[in-house]
Amino acid sequence: MIRMRLQLWHVVLLVVSLALVISSVQAQDDAAYLQHRQKVMQAVGGHMGSIAAIMKNKLPYTTTIVVHAQSLQVTSTVIEDAFKKEITEGKTDSKPDIWQDWDKFVAAAKKMGEESGKLADAAQSGDMAAIGAQVKELGKACGGCHKPFRKPKEERFKR
Ligand code: HEC
Repeated sequence: MIRMRLQLWHVVLLVVSLALVISSVQAQDDAAYLQHRQKVMQAVGGHMGSIAAIMKNKLPYTTTIVVHAQSLQVTSTVIEDAFKKEITEGKTDSKPDIWQDWDKFVAAAKKMGEESGKLADAAQSGDMAAIGAQVKELGKACGGCHKPFRKPKEERFKR
């Protein structure tokens, strides 16, 4: 009888430790996906920041804006894939609304791509007024996704 109880206890222990292993693998997996999607966004932020620095300081890099804008356009095409996996726990500023309103999220990424393309065109023309106006439109496209789908500043996780 005691022997049987011991065996049962072993089974319980085994199941519990297996469950722990599985959930920690899951958490590691999620952390890796979160890291990737945040790096994608940082790349986006880097290009946008470079454009802002050129504009703000009137640097003679108008043609460089073409490259940044094209990079943003290309990068916008990986957003859908980068956010496909639903992760609402852990170090993330993504709102669960992303996966409840997936089509709207994808449309917001597409909009960012379109506005980036228009900025590349404007930058090619060299017309500063047109570039400035289009940078604003692109900024609105960032907000068009951040507002519904990214947590507000006060709720963001701390690194
Ligand atoms: C389709 C939606 C979408 C668009 C478009 C978008 N973002 Fe984001 N962005 C997000 C989400 C969601 C997060 C939060 C990611 C997380 O923490 O899980 C984020 C996070 C960020 C971050 C913080 C990344 C970090 O370090 O964790 C930066 C910077 C950023 N976005 C910049 C931009 C800029 C600049 C644009 C426009 C050129 C832009 N984003 C367009 C959805 C979007």
